[in-house]
Amino acid sequence: MKSAMDKPQALQALSFLFACLLSSTSALSDANVSYIAHRQLSALPEEDAQLNLDIDRQVGINATFENQRLKTAYVALQALKRAVYSDPFNITGNWIGPHVCRYTRVFCAPALDDPSLNVVAGIDLNHDDIAGYIPAELGLLTDLALFHINSNRFCGIIPQALSKIVLMHEFDISNNRFVGTFPDVFLRWPAVKYIDIRFNDFEGEIPPEIFEKDIDALFLNDNRFTSTIPETIGKSVASIVTFANNKFKGCIPHSIGNMSNVNQLIFLNNELSGCLPGEVGMLGNLTIFDVSKNSLTGTVPESFAGLKSADVLDISHNKLSGVVPDSVCKLSSLSRLSFSHNYFSGEGNGCLRRDIEVEDSGNCMGSRPRQKSSEECEAEAKRAVDCSKEKCCKGDSTSKPPPATEEEVILPPNMGSQYSSPPPPMFPGY
Ligand SMILES: *[C@@H]1O[C@H](CO)[C@@H](O)[C@H](O)[C@H]1NC(C)=O
Ligand SMILES: *[C@@H]1O[C@H](CO)[C@@H](O)[C@H](O)[C@H]1NC(C)=O
Ligand SMILES: *[C@@H]1O[C@H](CO)[C@@H](O)[C@H](O)[C@H]1NC(C)=O
Ligand SMILES: *[C@@H]1O[C@H](CO)[C@@H](O)[C@H](O)[C@H]1NC(C)=O
Ligand SMILES: *[C@@H]1O[C@H](CO)[C@@H](O)[C@H](O)[C@H]1NC(C)=O
Repeated sequence: MKSAMDKPQALQALSFLFACLLSSTSALSDANVSYIAHRQLSALPEEDAQLNLDIDRQVGINATFENQRLKTAYVALQALKRAVYSDPFNITGNWIGPHVCRYTRVFCAPALDDPSLNVVAGIDLNHDDIAGYIPAELGLLTDLALFHINSNRFCGIIPQALSKIVLMHEFDISNNRFVGTFPDVFLRWPAVKYIDIRFNDFEGEIPPEIFEKDIDALFLNDNRFTSTIPETIGKSVASIVTFANNKFKGCIPHSIGNMSNVNQLIFLNNELSGCLPGEVGMLGNLTIFDVSKNSLTGTVPESFAGLKSADVLDISHNKLSGVVPDSVCKLSSLSRLSFSHNYFSGEGNGCLRRDIEVEDSGNCMGSRPRQKSSEECEAEAKRAVDCSKEKCCKGDSTSKPPPATEEEVILPPNMGSQYSSPPPPMFPGY
């Protein structure tokens, strides 16, 4: 059997989990934390085997379960409870005995494939301040469609065994302390629509395949990703993608113009370079486009006049130059337009409008207040780039066949409104 992790990786993950749990809860001794950390890591290399367990033996109680799936769910939920090391609101206090549908924050619904069976369809631990980790046994919850644990103190990595949760629809682990690379279990969930991993410590590359899935919202902001933006982003049908506050590098691919449903694209505060692709102007349904605090160069394409739904357009704190096109200044749906702290030498008259917030300071427009010094502006002018000659780096366009077939999944009723989880803190303005 293939190991999920090699040894150095496992050791590294172990030390992360150790440190994280230690910082998450003061009630534990070092010995306790070490025990917890080893428990997660020792389960990882052979999780698949781990899950082929004898449920009856595991249950070990003389209890009658409504059906076999609830008995399996019992095993998974008890494993999760054991993985919880601080539960200040005693949420898991009543996770005892066979009536798992009565456990606090656990939601049951008729199974999609057999409505006569009641099954565990959702777990919602948002804002419960729980410290712990995710055990491999959670993968036993094959009827789970909704998993929300935002704003807790969960540590460690996302176990491979979660790939067995084929009905997963909404997965929100934002605002915790998870580490590791982008969890590739997401690629193996055929029905996932909503992935929120913002405010964690994930790192490394974003697999290009993620944009080929039928995902509606992908929140990646406030992690430690260092990838380029994959070319495949053009195939994305998502309405929201947030890259903000990471270390994404390279340029914004031209394929972005093919994001047919996109409503919000947030690239704020990364290390992106190159020119603004003119294809952005094709995104007539885009309401928020924020590429501020990067290292973009060149001019604002005239095509940006096509952003007919734009509410917020923020290109501030880059190295852009030239004249801000009047047609962009005049976009009628704007409420905020910021191009401050660049090297613009001029702006269309439309930008002097008073009906919306326009920020133009920190540029090279002598007639306007609070501009850069002429020395600074002249030095930059010598470095001006010609965007018509610039080729965007390709990003990472290697792509494999999709990992699983897509299938239509309807959320079970009584599971609360879609994407209802209170969002974790994002960043001012959004
Ligand atoms: C922590 O360690 C002590 C002593 O080894 C043990 O008695 C206690 O049950 C442990 N606590 C937890 C939460 O594991
Ligand atoms: C279950 O109940 C039977 C009969 O009442 C008993 O013999 C057995 O030891 C019980 N098993 C457990 C694990 O309690
Ligand atoms: C936690 O909840 C359980 C079940 O409701 C209860 O029996 C227990 O006393 C509670 N513990 C604390 C510390 O409040
Ligand atoms: C956008 O999609 C069209 C149609 O699938 C394709 O021909 C075109 O090359 C794509 N554009 C980019 C920049 O990827
Ligand atoms: C905007 O959204 C509508 C409805 O989803 C769609 O029909 C239209 O093609 C989109 N427009 C653009 C420019 O993508």
